[in-house]
Amino acid sequence: ASLVVLVSGTGSNLVALLRACQDPAYGARVAGVVADKPCQGIEHARAAGVPAAVVAMEDYAARANWDEALALAVGEHDPDLVVCAGFMRILGPGFLNRFPGRIINTHPSLLPDFPGAHAVRDALAAGATRAGATVFWVDEGVDTGAHIAQVEVPVLPDDDEASLTERIKAAETPQLIETISRLVRQEDRA
Ligand code: GRF
Repeated sequence: ASLVVLVSGTGSNLVALLRACQDPAYGARVAGVVADKPCQGIEHARAAGVPAAVVAMEDYAARANWDEALALAVGEHDPDLVVCAGFMRILGPGFLNRFPGRIINTHPSLLPDFPGAHAVRDALAAGATRAGATVFWVDEGVDTGAHIAQVEVPVLPDDDEASLTERIKAAETPQLIETISRLVRQEDRA
């Protein structure tokens, strides 16, 4: 199966996915990486020899044009699955309609709790005692799509944003890798 990964940041989930894909038994390969801005994720892709493109919103007159350009850059790789891994933009209908039922995201909270860009900070501010990560199908909302997998980690009394983020990521990344493998195997059978 062919994957396209959307990134905006450090790309640690992308790095783990690239590593998983080295095993032929994993059943998927990263055909391309697309970002909304220059970032470490793009550098990781290029270092791994994976085609990488930046489609920056400020280069387009309107959001819909950006959506369209992003869809073209992703569609070039004909993905079976589009994986948002730390992609910090909301995808519009021009993109979503192009890849129906094929776009997943991972979010660092136990959705529906704490959607949005500051999930870990928000969980701490609310005094949550449990945190985690959710993989879900992307729809037009902000972290509102149907859940595929969820993993829980405790919030410890001394946690700050960095320590909790690290604990979540340690559970989030393997969950994402495992979920993608499950989804592409299901697709092979379909
Ligand atoms: C992940 O925790 C993801 O849930 C969130 O941003 C982080 C991405 O990290 N949306 P990375 O870019 O894969 O290192």
